[in-house]
Amino acid sequence: MKKIGVAILGLGTVGGGTYKILTSKKEKFINTFGTDVTVENVLEINDARIKQLNIDQSIVTKNIAEVVSNPAVDVVVEVIGGIEPAKTFIETALKHGKTVVSANKELIAKYWHEIEAVAKANDAGFYFEASCVGGVPVIRTLTESMQGNDILSIKGIINGTTNYILTKMSDEGLEFNDVLKDAQQKGYAEADPTADVDGFDAAYKLSILSSLAFNVKVPIEKVYREGIRNISKKDIEYGKEFGYELKLLAIGKRGENGIEARVHPTFIKQSHPLASVKESFNAVFITGDNVDDIMLYGKGAGDMPTASAIVSDILYSSGVAEHYYVPFVNDKNGNGVFNKDFSCKYYIRLTVKDKSGVLAQIAGVLGDNNVSIYQVIQKESLDGKAVIVVMTHTTFETAVKKAVEQLGGLKDVVEKVNALIRVE
Ligand code: NDP
Ligand code: HSE
Repeated sequence: MKKIGVAILGLGTVGGGTYKILTSKKEKFINTFGTDVTVENVLEINDARIKQLNIDQSIVTKNIAEVVSNPAVDVVVEVIGGIEPAKTFIETALKHGKTVVSANKELIAKYWHEIEAVAKANDAGFYFEASCVGGVPVIRTLTESMQGNDILSIKGIINGTTNYILTKMSDEGLEFNDVLKDAQQKGYAEADPTADVDGFDAAYKLSILSSLAFNVKVPIEKVYREGIRNISKKDIEYGKEFGYELKLLAIGKRGENGIEARVHPTFIKQSHPLASVKESFNAVFITGDNVDDIMLYGKGAGDMPTASAIVSDILYSSGVAEHYYVPFVNDKNGNGVFNKDFSCKYYIRLTVKDKSGVLAQIAGVLGDNNVSIYQVIQKESLDGKAVIVVMTHTTFETAVKKAVEQLGGLKDVVEKVNALIRVE
């Protein structure tokens, strides 16, 4: 019988879920896979968590040296989160030849190169299915099931908190701040919601997923990021009138001018499968040149869904003849070609003085910047002011940004441009 000894570092939400699955499914793993998985060590500083899960004190430690020197431990699961001490613990485990399984997207997005180098040098495995989209097996789909394709694009709703907030704003006509409070009370959003609402969490995941999709390491600094803090319910309403739903999309594309990786609020057609992904659910829509479109859907967070991915990595890593390292094709300096000046359609909302000639001024500025107008609608007119919504044809990001800056400077534009939202 094959034996796998596991150490869990950090017994919080994901660590607790992992402990529960490994102990409750021990018999199943023996009977189905002929593999006896045992939790040999738990490293946790919070004694209350150990008591809550009724863990035998003899396997508990606060000292990483004890874990890495334990010959019964084959796989170290890092679910502490953050950069330190997680990074040092991971590297220490790898240097002792242990396989590491981690859910830590921030650490992987920022230090993948360094950690992978230590893993390779020590012939140790480094697996991180749980880092992107929790329980949804997107990483293994990219690395093991789509080799016969060049992946053309990956588009996803990969942050549950923001999808919950946008769903409530859309379905119940609420403003961002009111929904955020509700999301915090329900435990979806953290007390400090920055990582989720400002798009950092989605950007970390996109850096990892687009690196895997395109076999080119996409550093976090190359990911354009914009969150949902400035989204108004008005824009969601107006977007619906054009047939769009608003989502925080993470988009990776391989184009003629290089790789695009961007996270921003995005209008998508109501008929697109991603538009119907609601509440805190996640989904990833991948297009390969041969398979065409596929979509994965499920829970991107939570103790048991995320632990499901961790356990999959534990069993997978023990079954491979050789550890898997992603085959990257960046040039020898580690650079890929990245395109920051992407193009798409844009939704622009402005408040203007309600008088003759204003539309001509707006059209003039857009035309001067080669931004072609698809549609213009005057939405409201009150107290001598009018709300104008412009939908553009496909245009370049730099062109539209320059045009928006100039529009904000027009004397008949009451405030600076109220909203600029990309349309896929
Ligand atoms: P938690 O905060 O719930 O758990 C972290 C645990 O680690 C806590 O029990 C914490 O103790 C403990 N800890 C902190 N510092 C140390 C230390 N130095 N030594 C030992 N234990 C320590 O986090 P999550 O479980 O939510 O997240 C873990 C990782 O999983 C993160 O990288 C996160 O991004 C990722 N992830 C989480 C998902 C989720 O749904 N929660 C989904 C996908 C990925 P204390 O409570 O005292 O701080
Ligand atoms: N905070 C993340 C989310 C879960 O809201 O999707 C962890 O990846």
